[in-house]
Amino acid sequence: MVKFGIIGTGRISDWVYKGIQEEPRISVNAICSRTEDAANAFISRHPELAGAKIYTSVQELAEDPDIDAVYIGTPNQTHHSYTLACLKAGKHVLCEKPFSVSGQEAREMAEAARASGRLLMEAMISTFNPNFRAFADRINSIGPLRQYSSNYCQYSSKYESLKKGITASCFQSGTAGALRDIGIYALYPLVTLFGRPEKTLSSLTTYQTADGPTDIHGSLLLDYGQMQASITYSKVCDSLVPTELSGEDGNLILDDIRIARRAEIAPHNPPSSGQGPKPERTIIAEGIDHNEYYYEFKEFADLLEAGMTESKINSLDASVTVIEIIEEALKQNNLK
Ligand SMILES: NC(=O)c1ccc[n+]([C@@H]2O[C@H](COP(=O)([O-])OP(=O)(O)OC[C@H]3O[C@@H](n4cnc5c(N)ncnc54)[C@H](OP(=O)(O)O)[C@@H]3O)[C@@H](O)[C@H]2O)c1
Repeated sequence: MVKFGIIGTGRISDWVYKGIQEEPRISVNAICSRTEDAANAFISRHPELAGAKIYTSVQELAEDPDIDAVYIGTPNQTHHSYTLACLKAGKHVLCEKPFSVSGQEAREMAEAARASGRLLMEAMISTFNPNFRAFADRINSIGPLRQYSSNYCQYSSKYESLKKGITASCFQSGTAGALRDIGIYALYPLVTLFGRPEKTLSSLTTYQTADGPTDIHGSLLLDYGQMQASITYSKVCDSLVPTELSGEDGNLILDDIRIARRAEIAPHNPPSSGQGPKPERTIIAEGIDHNEYYYEFKEFADLLEAGMTESKINSLDASVTVIEIIEEALKQNNLK
């Protein structure tokens, strides 16, 4: 049994805990919060956690010999220091997305993990989703790849407060914003499939908060030489358009890049100058049989069981590359 401590008692930890409950090889034995009250409130929302230890210091949690691993569900700017503290004390770490707020931080985290011999993985749920895996398994079946087009646009419940002058952590200038918070869902899977692009071009819109500008929506063009990728992301409007990978021999389609519910393939028809029927789609995978957060914990438990310290899917290289792309994209628009 892998004994976890959860750091942060916000709603993401509530959501993630549902996924943990479906993984029998993991138990939650400690809750770490900035206040005892918040930790107790978390436990009262999840009564089966009664008896879990409470910490108000990440360092003290990290030093608890009865804890094997931590889940970090706190704002982006804490990921680097919490990860380093926990790795140093010998814990395995599952850290929320985005991995860090800068490339420098991401590289330090990867280096610390490799030196520690402990498992460090970014909690990016999209890539472990079984429908995404079915999509990924077919990429060699649609001929030479030409285009990836993906978007994740979700009108944020925190945008209303932002307009009233209250900045939630997801909009914090310099540490969050739409690309780190939302665009990453379309970007990370791309990087796990194709690695680092040759070039990145970024265009975005900013909103002026009391602490400085933050990006609220935008797009990325990523040049992979023979394949081009485009990504659109937003925290101020929705999108209902699926993700598509286009090859010369057909297309792969995912209904939703963050939590895919269906993957389809559509072999292309003989060329007809647009006069023939549309390619027919076949479902290759549909539905998920667990809570959407379960799969990252299953991967974590599988890796520990196999004595591995890195995921082949959410690898340290993927996490570092994604943060470096984000850093470059923000820099092109004079954002930190
Ligand atoms: N995977 C997903 O689906 C998903 C969804 C949403 C968010 N996220 C990620 O989860 C992380 C947290 O996002 P969120 O929107 O939940 O953030 P949040 O609500 O601002 O903070 C989450 C919790 O972190 C603790 N916290 C808040 N501010 C802190 C600070 N300055 N220093 C240390 N701890 C602090 C609080 O818990 P205590 O009061 O207990 O200390 C808070 O409830 C982000 O990195 C975000 O990108 C992932």
